Amino acid sequence: MKKKVVSLLTVAALSMSMLAGCSSASDTAKEAASTAEEAVSTAEETAADTAESVADAVEETAEEVTDAAAGGDLASKKVGVCIYQFSDNFMTLFRNELENYLVSQGFSKDNITIVDGANDQATQTNQIQNFITSGVDVLIINPVNSSSAATITDLVVAANIPLVYINREPDADEEQRWKDNNWNVCYVGCDARQSGTYQGEIIVDLGKDKVDLNGDGKIQYIMIEGDPENVDAQYRTEFSVKALQDAGWEVDCLDDEVGNWDQATAQQLVANALSAHPETEVVFCNNDAMALGALQSIESAGRTVGTDIYLVGVDALSEALEDVIAGTMTGTVFNDHFSQSHSSADAAINFVNGGTNDYYIGCDYVKVTSENAQQILDSVK
Ligand code: GAL
Repeated sequence: MKKKVVSLLTVAALSMSMLAGCSSASDTAKEAASTAEEAVSTAEETAADTAESVADAVEETAEEVTDAAAGGDLASKKVGVCIYQFSDNFMTLFRNELENYLVSQGFSKDNITIVDGANDQATQTNQIQNFITSGVDVLIINPVNSSSAATITDLVVAANIPLVYINREPDADEEQRWKDNNWNVCYVGCDARQSGTYQGEIIVDLGKDKVDLNGDGKIQYIMIEGDPENVDAQYRTEFSVKALQDAGWEVDCLDDEVGNWDQATAQQLVANALSAHPETEVVFCNNDAMALGALQSIESAGRTVGTDIYLVGVDALSEALEDVIAGTMTGTVFNDHFSQSHSSADAAINFVNGGTNDYYIGCDYVKVTSENAQQILDSVK
């Protein structure tokens, strides 16, 4: 609000200086007289308007001061952040950026507590209860199980704490409850259908002749999925393949395994799948960590990405981007952790300041191939 007072005064000062400039530019005495008259009346109007606006602004600032005295200032506000699992590569980028951004917006680092759910819903629910007991002003939650969202929401809403869900989207019924009850609850994330579609399009853009290595008219692929409870995994699995089918390509799923977003798990799964199905032409991984594991197994099997097999992931981890640049990964999809962490912090700030948010706050994925991988890498570093 202080900014508003300053800008109003600046506008008033500018108006005055413009008026002064106009009258000195008049050529004749008559013109000068009428311009002066106009100037006086405009100046009177401007002064009256400005006085009114300044009075409003002073009143608002006074309200803010009262709020601040009651703890309205961000530096004194407490934020609780629950992450489903600290060892997740993408969520590590997300949480670090979230913390930095919250601090840049005025929160004190000491008042931001980020906890690791260790991929266990009971642990996370306990952490949420502790946050409620200790009294936080807002909660940002990346649920271990999206299906536990209703229970989490009930706990948090009963404690009258605003809640921002991130990364793992609760289902449509749950989101409807927030709307129906006018609760201070929202979700920030990207539409995983888009990321799946982009993965498929990266393959389609190579051309069927190139991808159908054995020339049997079908694309033999293996799919490595993230946590199957997670809508990101479900949609990426479905929409990556759908993009091939939408292009009129026939597909043949040789294996579909759950790698739980984890590099080492995926490495093992892909090693097994490749030895059972050497005819594999494409390896789809729901995220980059798993694609990095897949790449280790592809290389151990003596295969070469871009020559006798194709590999795509999602997230645009720096390591994966280096691989796309080197040609050892066909492509990935940038999962914008900057935009998502900033939007979730902004939503939390709105709630803390007594405002409201849209119930769903989205963001776009970006398709990444060798053409733009360097540019994306430069932007994330
Ligand atoms: C996805 C991301 C994965 C993993 C998952 C966790 O959006 O692509 O790498 O972090 O979230 O829920």
